[in-house]
Order: sequence, then C-alpha cells, then structure tokens
Amino acid sequence: MTPTLNEQNEIGQLVAGLSAAISGMRLYAEKHPKTVALLDQAYAGIAQRATSREKTTAMIVDDELLWDGTALKGKVSQLTSFVKELRAVGIESICFHKGITRSEITDFLKTLASNQADSLPSSAHVKLGKLRLSCKEPDLCPIGEADQQRVAAFLALRDKKYPQVREISHGISRHRNFEIKGVEDVVTTFVRGFAENINPIRLLIQMKVGDEYTYTHMVNVCILTMSQAESLGFPAEYLFQIGVAAILHDAGKLFIPAEILNKPGKLTNEERLIVETHSLRGASYILKHDALPKLAVLGALEHHIKYDGTGYPAIPTSYQPNIISQMIAISDVFDAMRTRRSYKEPKPVKDIAAVLLKEKGSAYHPQLVDNFLKLIQEEPNGLR
Ligand SMILES: [Fe+2]
Ligand SMILES: [Fe+2]
Repeated sequence: MTPTLNEQNEIGQLVAGLSAAISGMRLYAEKHPKTVALLDQAYAGIAQRATSREKTTAMIVDDELLWDGTALKGKVSQLTSFVKELRAVGIESICFHKGITRSEITDFLKTLASNQADSLPSSAHVKLGKLRLSCKEPDLCPIGEADQQRVAAFLALRDKKYPQVREISHGISRHRNFEIKGVEDVVTTFVRGFAENINPIRLLIQMKVGDEYTYTHMVNVCILTMSQAESLGFPAEYLFQIGVAAILHDAGKLFIPAEILNKPGKLTNEERLIVETHSLRGASYILKHDALPKLAVLGALEHHIKYDGTGYPAIPTSYQPNIISQMIAISDVFDAMRTRRSYKEPKPVKDIAAVLLKEKGSAYHPQLVDNFLKLIQEEPNGLR
C-alpha cells in the first residue's frame, strides 16, 4: 500500500537503529553504556512495531529493502549498510514477531556484528529466511531415489486434491459459491511440498483436453507465486497466506458472464470493461469472508495494476501495490502466455522470458522479474 511519510520515517529510523547497534557492538563491549543505549533504542523500535502489527518483516530483493511490503530505496547509508550486513550472512528476510525480547534482539545483532553469523539461527520471535543454494547446472543437482519417491508421493497427494480445485473453479465458471475449506486444503498440500524441498516448478499443470482454463490457471498461479515467495526467503508461515491469495486472484470472475469469459478471440471494448471489473468484485467478495487472509483481498484487487501504475483498476499516482500482488501479476501473465486456448497457441518459455524482460521496470517489478526468470531456469529438466 502507499507508504505515508510517517511510515517511511518510522521504518527508516528502525533500520538506522539496527545499523547503529551493530556498529556500536563492534566498537564497544556489550555492557558499555553506549552499546546498552543503542541496543535499547533498536529493541524499542522493533518491539513497538512488532507489537502494533503482530509482526514486522524485512525482505531484501536485490538491493532494495522491503519493510512490511514498503520499498525503501538504498539512498540512506544505514540502509545500504544494513542490507550489506544481512547479505553477508545470506539472510534474505527477517520477521520479528510480537513478544520479541531484548535478549533476542541482542543475540541477533551480536551475531551479525561478530561476522561469524554463518549459522545464525532463528529464535522464537526472530525468524530468518536464508538464501537458498541455487542449482543452475542440472548435472550438479542429481535427483536421488529418495527425492524421486518424495516427488511421486507428493504428486499423488496433489492429484487427490484435484477434485477440490476443480470444484472451486466450477464455482467460478458457474457462478456458485466455492468452498473455502477446499482452497485451504489445496494450498496446504503445496506448502507441504515446499517443506519437502520438492522443486515446485515441476508441479505446474499442463492444460489437458477438456480442462477448464480457470482450474489449471488458478493452481499454476498459486504454485508459481509461492515459488517466487519461497525463493525470496519469505518465512514458511507466510507461504500459506500467499498461496491462498494467489489461488483466489481471479475470484472476481465468479461475477463475469461465462459467455464473455469463454469468448474465443478478441473482446469488444464494452466486454473488456466488464472483464476488468473482476479485480474489484473479487476483492469485495473475499473481504466478506472473514476466514480468508486480507492479503487475498489485495491480490485480487491489485494483480492487474502494472509496476508503473497503469493497468486496472485506476489508482492514485503514489499508490504502490503489495509485493505479493506484483508476484501474482508475473505468475498470471506467465501462465496466460504459456497456456493453449482454443484461439491461441502457447508461447515457448524463452519468448515469455523475452516479454517479461522487455516489460521489466514498466509493467513488472524489475527484481521480481529477475528472480522469476532465475527460478524457471533452475528447473533441472528445463521448462520449454
Ligand atoms: Fe485477473
Ligand atoms: Fe489470472
């Protein structure tokens, strides 16, 4: 969402406080009054923000630091040095939870300051997302028998969940309510796959003859978005919410007449405007379901807003879509271009990559595009 000036200042001070405490600990002993004062200040800032919001999260996407989804550009020196400190130990994201203690913050900063943070562990209220080792050369990353069995077991489990996904997508195409429980079960299945370290890109569904477009699309956007989030170091507990948001991004299509949705070929201007209402309709529909995460409201509302602010629905100039909505937008366009429809051939992955690269920085978040392309190229068997 649009950060206010206060919000930017608050986060800026928070980062400056953490940076100053790390520097302080390198110069003075832990009990030195200067160190104590710096730690007090760093702790107060984090604890206050984590308490008021249940948790507060920092994430690095290339050289940008996102704090609770707000992008802070690396213009301030403390910001740059904090990002460097985290990068040096392979941390991509940190989540500070409500209830964090001063000693947890002290231990976290002390280990960062010691430059020996290779094995920096998460604690009860400080959850760290670490950089995953990537595997670019297929030969360096053989799949052992145990892995193959896990993939097979997971695929079987996923297949059992298909009827529920189909049920949800039928709901959308036939204007019925869908079962929220079904959504949760499906996403849980995928979260389990991530915990098992199964390469999720391998799970992408190919559209079969007679399949509903909506059904494969929902599942694929879910898999792709969770993969992006996971590779960026989002903590495991967020993946579920992110998956629910992704799978429901087009929920607003419940309210669009089927003959327009399934019309082969080009839509008239009037029809296009009707389709475009699915963002707002989806968001307000999800909002009525208390059990669904609010992130899903944003995902539905914002997934057609471009990085440069164009797209729909129309937004004020300073509005910044949530980072997850921006990930959904990339998964969405990727799956749409990759899928065969009655009126169009699927694009090869290299052509889709070229489109994403061309529109990176205008339609799509540049660092998210880079990360996405890395992700789909990491698939050992290669996506074609
Ligand atoms: Fe959409
Ligand atoms: Fe979509």
